[in-house]
Amino acid sequence: MMFDPRLILALAVWIAYPNHCLGQYHINPPKTIFPDLELPSDHKHTATVFEWKNLQYGFPSEQEREQLIRDGRYNPDSPIPIDIDVYYPPNGSPPRHFVTSPRFGQGVPFSLAYVTNVQRENGSEIQAYPSYQWHSSHGANCDGLTSVYRIHIDACGQMWVLDSGEIEFVQHCAPQVVVFDLATNQLIHRYRLPETSYKAKVSRFVNIFADIRDPPPSGQCKDVFAYLADPTSKAIVVYDVVGQSSWRIENKFTYPDARFGTHSVAGESFELLDGPLALAVTPLGLGLRRHLIFHALSNELELAIPLDILNNATNWQKGFSSSLSDFVTLGRRGVQCATHAISRQGFWFCGFLEPIGIFGWDIRRPYDRGNVQPLALNPVTLQFVSGIKIVRRPADGQEELWLLSDRLQKIFAGTIDYGEINYRVMRCDVEDLLQGRVCF
Ligand SMILES: *[C@@H]1O[C@H](CO)[C@@H](O)[C@H](O)[C@H]1NC(C)=O
Ligand SMILES: *[C@@H]1O[C@H](CO)[C@@H](O)[C@H](O)[C@H]1NC(C)=O
Repeated sequence: MMFDPRLILALAVWIAYPNHCLGQYHINPPKTIFPDLELPSDHKHTATVFEWKNLQYGFPSEQEREQLIRDGRYNPDSPIPIDIDVYYPPNGSPPRHFVTSPRFGQGVPFSLAYVTNVQRENGSEIQAYPSYQWHSSHGANCDGLTSVYRIHIDACGQMWVLDSGEIEFVQHCAPQVVVFDLATNQLIHRYRLPETSYKAKVSRFVNIFADIRDPPPSGQCKDVFAYLADPTSKAIVVYDVVGQSSWRIENKFTYPDARFGTHSVAGESFELLDGPLALAVTPLGLGLRRHLIFHALSNELELAIPLDILNNATNWQKGFSSSLSDFVTLGRRGVQCATHAISRQGFWFCGFLEPIGIFGWDIRRPYDRGNVQPLALNPVTLQFVSGIKIVRRPADGQEELWLLSDRLQKIFAGTIDYGEINYRVMRCDVEDLLQGRVCF
């Protein structure tokens, strides 16, 4: 596996002048950190798989659509897509694409959906998953789904769903983890968070990463620790699936940094002082002590904590002062990036706010300016990458990077124009990205 020669040159320069460059890392504004960058001129193939001007919901009937519009439970311009994940059925049938659109406001008919082949006026139609009934109580039935921010599909075809339980920031139901078997679309597991694992009226659960410790072909995806991001209460929750318990991690490493509370994208900005958002574990089989790599949305720091420390509840009984010396500060990026993903070979990917693009890092190298490198820049299509996943393609075993971009800054600023494409689902082979064959 080789990086683009441009990247290798940058790395060589960094090794030759380590102190100089580390110094610059702190002093330079983000724009000048990557001076040699060129926009890709050669787009091999189009990476956009789905695009929307606004999300196009499908309903069980036309009457239902009209009723919801009358009730204020569907406002076509209210929903915002946040996350994407993809499932390749083992029998070789076509992949299924899932998107989420949390209930920030009242006008979101359902928050977990799959994308259909039906083309509507402003983009592909989405349909409720696993069924419309799971969503139609709008918070009245806590056995359904109230508001889903993000999902994680594992190697056994299980979809891990994190439901925040809120509508328009009012807690209707306890936050919950719900797992569906994608082969049968059946509920196979549910865990409602106990009151000790969240802060009522403060918590907002927005991201989940399920670490499968017994993957196929030999394992059954039963030995799982799931990590949940709660940026508003500034915590990570560890959920021990086998032990049926959960605990909170909240300390100075999970806090935002006020200097990164302003998020600027393409000339517009918004304020968010959010804690943990990005979660991913270092892969099995690299021969390294395994870590959770994470960061707060409103912070430039990239951090890690060993899984053996994280997964033992005894280590977290002292609140803010628990296990502090086990946290590793990997480095600083000088700018925010939202969610991230790590490939099987140990390459990390995140969508930077400035310059607007996907950056990559080999987790075996220091997290610094020479090693955290742009792999694809596109100031139009990559505005606020709020969902990013790595999916193994069964046909040839290659990994694909999937992302969803949603121009969140325009939603906050009220400048979104539904006459143009605002939301995109895009895909690129991990190997193509690493070799400089840009497709975004
Ligand atoms: C959990 O950590 C405690 C100390 O913090 C240690 O005594 C105990 O053996 C650990 N448990 C496991 C299962 O490793
Ligand atoms: C599609 O977008 C146009 C332009 O913003 C809007 O007027 C129309 O209502 C949208 N249609 C649907 C079905 O969302």
